[in-house]
Amino acid sequence: MPVKEPVVFTPEWDKWMNMYWWMVDYSVEPKNKAEATGLSFELDKLLKSDPQNCRITAIIEELRLLRVRESGELSDMEQWDRTALWLPDDIGGGANNRAFITDLLSGECQGVVLEAMCGFHSYLLPSDSREVVALDYSTEALKRYPFPERKRIRCDLNQVFSGAEIPCFTPEQFDAVTFCFGFRCLAYPPYLFMELLRILRPGGMVVFIENPKSGYLDLCKREFCPRTCKALLEEVGFTSYSISVFNEDYYHITAHKPRL
Ligand SMILES: C[S@@+](CC[C@H](N)C(=O)[O-])C[C@H]1O[C@@H](n2cnc3c(N)ncnc32)[C@H](O)[C@@H]1O
Repeated sequence: MPVKEPVVFTPEWDKWMNMYWWMVDYSVEPKNKAEATGLSFELDKLLKSDPQNCRITAIIEELRLLRVRESGELSDMEQWDRTALWLPDDIGGGANNRAFITDLLSGECQGVVLEAMCGFHSYLLPSDSREVVALDYSTEALKRYPFPERKRIRCDLNQVFSGAEIPCFTPEQFDAVTFCFGFRCLAYPPYLFMELLRILRPGGMVVFIENPKSGYLDLCKREFCPRTCKALLEEVGFTSYSISVFNEDYYHITAHKPRL
């Protein structure tokens, strides 16, 4: 079955995200979460049953007032730190997809695996056949990353420019590198992908899990679209690109470093 391209950032979608869904799920101050959840249920019901009801605008305004304070003065990294502190349950994919993604990645990634942009959660179960290294640039996320026995690397992947190497990684060190809900935070994917070719063994795999329709849009540097992702990976030399979709909007992408 051909994989559908996501429709992202249409004006309608933007409006929806900004006015309602994005605000409730991701931008509510923790102490206001219960109130916001109640309002969002009410809003959801009205939107389905009586979309012209003027209470809708009022609810949206009430929700807006429950948002976190503006974060204009914080760097992206500080905002991710804050997410780790304030929204400790907010793991990419949410509770519904967590087990599915964990099974998927734990099944396909063996050997030495880099869990890049790991946040404060791991989708890679402990196993005798796997050694996991966790990487993120948020100190607060790394502090909360589970599995204390795993090595953690604090590194800003957007500092990987042409020819730059991620410090402390040796050539062909990894059998797989995973990115769950991180692609859209990458400023220069081709440079990073070139570095992945250095640190992956021949035949090694890069895996992406993405949902173009959810996440912290304020912190996105780019949209996610599977066609673009494929083009960028192939441009630098990855092959055997594969893509599948689960739960409607979730994309699972793999590509391989060519064998010698
Ligand atoms: C949407 S969260 C996903 C976290 C985790 N993989 C999950 O699914 O729950 C994106 C993560 O990427 C990290 N990140 C964003 N930009 C980064 C960068 N330039 N270098 C390293 N990590 C980065 C953030 O700190 C955050 O933990």
